[in-house]
Amino acid sequence: MGAPYFMHSRSFYRNSPDVDLAFLQASFDNVPYDHYFTQGQRFRTTSRVEITGHGFRLLPKRPLYQPPSVNKLEKYGGICRDYEDAPVSLIESAPFQKLIMEWISRTGVQAKSFSVHQIRTTGTGSPVPEGRHHDGTDWTGLYVVKRHGIDPESACTTYWDREEEVVMRDILGEGELITFEDSKYTHDTTALVPVRDGAYRDVFVLTLPEHGVNVPDELIGE
Ligand SMILES: [Fe+2]
Repeated sequence: MGAPYFMHSRSFYRNSPDVDLAFLQASFDNVPYDHYFTQGQRFRTTSRVEITGHGFRLLPKRPLYQPPSVNKLEKYGGICRDYEDAPVSLIESAPFQKLIMEWISRTGVQAKSFSVHQIRTTGTGSPVPEGRHHDGTDWTGLYVVKRHGIDPESACTTYWDREEEVVMRDILGEGELITFEDSKYTHDTTALVPVRDGAYRDVFVLTLPEHGVNVPDELIGE
């Protein structure tokens, strides 16, 4: 699994960074409930992060805004959503910084900041409730942190290119990272199929640029 898709083009990569996965998994232990989401139980953080010469640091919070053209979910897309930040113990950690720098190196962007979203989907939930979509970013990273108590064939991810060709359709395993130029691909992931109680799937969604640039001024009063 993985090899055929290692480098589809300069804009789509699949690989497994050599990082401390157990540490990254533990960062989800207290991920807070997503009160905006009404189609099941989801948990989430959303953070803007600055890359400095001395490491990473959290930037002041900004709401997450996805225009309805990007996220068609009612009362989810088209509004400002306020989420808790990811734990500082994650942001400032060596495993996280290693993962991010590897992701950014594949984009070719000289990034000074980015956003990270910790997302936990539970039960029979869909990791992509809005369906096949673009993220409205320049570059996105999808890093699968944990698959717990779900059928090995569930949560299958597909990417399509602009010609509607399937670039990848596969189960992303723990520790796998997809790096892609968002405008060139649409993507979707099928629902979880739990095989025992307490099932969940944890991912990091990483974006360039950081999400604060997408918030309309009139919605944040700046
Ligand atoms: Fe997405």
